[in-house]
Amino acid sequence: MSVTSLQESVGGAPTTNTRLLDWVEEVAALTQPDKIYWVDGSAEEYARLTDEMVAAGTLVRLNPEKFPNSFAGNSDPKDVARVEEQTFICSKNEHDAGFTNNWMEPTLMKEKLHGLFAGSMRGRTMYVIPFVMGHLEADDPKFGVEITDSAYVVASMRIMARIGTPVLRKLEELDAFFVPALHTVGAPLRDGEPDVAWPCNEEKWIVHFPEERAIWSYGSGYGGNALLGKKCYALRIASAMARDEGWLAEHMLILKLTSPEQKTYYVTAAFPSACGKTNLALLDPTIEGWKVETLGDDITWLRFGADGQLRAVNPEDGLFGVAPGTGWGTNPNAMRAIAKGNSIFTNVALTDDGGVWWEGMTEETPEHLTDWRGESWTPDSGRTAAHPNSRFCTPIDQVDMLAAEYNEPNGVPISAILFGGRRKTTIPLVTESRDWTNGIFMGSTLSSETTAAASGQVGVVRRDPMAMLPFIGYDAGDYLKHWVTLSKTGNPDKLPKIFLVNWFRRKADGSFAWPGFGDNARVLKWAIERIEGTAEAVETPIGFVPAPGSIDLRGLDLTEADMAQAVSVVPQEWAAEVQSIEKWYARFGDSLPDELAQELAGLKSRLG
Ligand code: PEP
Ligand code: NA
Ligand code: MN
Repeated sequence: MSVTSLQESVGGAPTTNTRLLDWVEEVAALTQPDKIYWVDGSAEEYARLTDEMVAAGTLVRLNPEKFPNSFAGNSDPKDVARVEEQTFICSKNEHDAGFTNNWMEPTLMKEKLHGLFAGSMRGRTMYVIPFVMGHLEADDPKFGVEITDSAYVVASMRIMARIGTPVLRKLEELDAFFVPALHTVGAPLRDGEPDVAWPCNEEKWIVHFPEERAIWSYGSGYGGNALLGKKCYALRIASAMARDEGWLAEHMLILKLTSPEQKTYYVTAAFPSACGKTNLALLDPTIEGWKVETLGDDITWLRFGADGQLRAVNPEDGLFGVAPGTGWGTNPNAMRAIAKGNSIFTNVALTDDGGVWWEGMTEETPEHLTDWRGESWTPDSGRTAAHPNSRFCTPIDQVDMLAAEYNEPNGVPISAILFGGRRKTTIPLVTESRDWTNGIFMGSTLSSETTAAASGQVGVVRRDPMAMLPFIGYDAGDYLKHWVTLSKTGNPDKLPKIFLVNWFRRKADGSFAWPGFGDNARVLKWAIERIEGTAEAVETPIGFVPAPGSIDLRGLDLTEADMAQAVSVVPQEWAAEVQSIEKWYARFGDSLPDELAQELAGLKSRLG
């Protein structure tokens, strides 16, 4: 691109914000795109971009009678998940990144990135996407601008966040700070070189500069690596902002529960990726009289209000859900939202009549599909049709059970926080913490067997504090300290109750001890009844578990003996667990808050 045409396009920019213009100009000079395009976020623009992607073979248009205005695309098989080993927190001091993050000195990293980004957008269009995480009308709206050379990212960001002209106008009006979030697929095109359907680079770098509040992402077009408002901003950068500004950015869903007495409660819940957050967020309760509505399925920003009450907002505006396991039986609310259309599917299988399919979507498996690699597939193929980390990306306002309070700019008051993981043994179905600090201890020692949501081995137990292991944007010990000290600013009488849950415990025969899905409403009901003081519990060394008969099992094919097993605290299992927690805590060194070291000591003495 010549200097004149560069100045023309920047000059033709729909903004007078000089910091933004300077940054766009600087990035264009570095990455050398063919064109600069300012994203307005309109439906016409979305139609144009998706048409272009269909023409380029990146997406196929689904049968509009089945999935109106919806598209499916397959990524490069080497670009199917977040790349945690290539994700960096580049704080000035290594200590500030902590042991849970990869670190490189910021100037060295910048040098490296400048080398990679130089000319990286040649032959491509550079899109400029103004976005806001959370509500535009929030007291302190959190702006970002993503620059990307991927139309797939633009279309997906439009579903996942509030983007475009209204955001840019507000940013200008407030003369607000914005997080510069720079993304390239790292696949420049030589003159006349034909493009591939999913450009990316073997080499990937997902880099955060928490002090500068900047993001640089190189080489991947996939989800959390590329839609920079999501994990990179709303969790990693936001967690650092939250530490400095006195709030919390967490990997949590938000749901609203209404009891038969018409009392309402808001609950947040943290689970690692692919452990059923979306299913719990969109739960269809199996117990009569209880109603669940949703406010979010992945990310929650929490703040203590002036009254000392903890309030939660969902900074996103869409669902980026794991497709396999989402079905008419397990999550009809998600299926109904998806069926309304306006969605982008990635790495799912295609049906012969222009629809999509993935494992667990329907009870019956279609006889023939085109799998996520674009190959012909039958049930005898000996491989899954959809990639285990395939996704649906759907506007959240298509969820029928979206709570009206979703649009409340400053959020809803929280009554309970759940921490959960995927564990075959040891962790009971539900345990109420002894008190708030004990609840933080539960969160800090949360553990789960790994899933396909990140590249690497599946099924290994790893500690995942608050389900934030891959997302804490600073030192993990300082993060736990922030939880402990921040909560002291809350009103002690209004602190939510904290519970540890595990839907995935197995019986001796290997089958699940608890049916899960809609029946998890029974656990939510017990938690609410604990808050109201109406459900019985048994004190154990690890906390309070449901007393026999206290969980509503009506209509469920589960005996009290099964139930007793699901909530059992087995001493040998806990002896091993404590050793594992000790090893985990040792990794924090001096950074571990004293309050949590004391919690561990208390647990050990109670276990005897
Ligand atoms: C992702 O993997 O890209 C993602 C957005 O989320 P998660 O891993 O939490 O499902
Ligand atoms: Na949007
Ligand atoms: Mn997530």
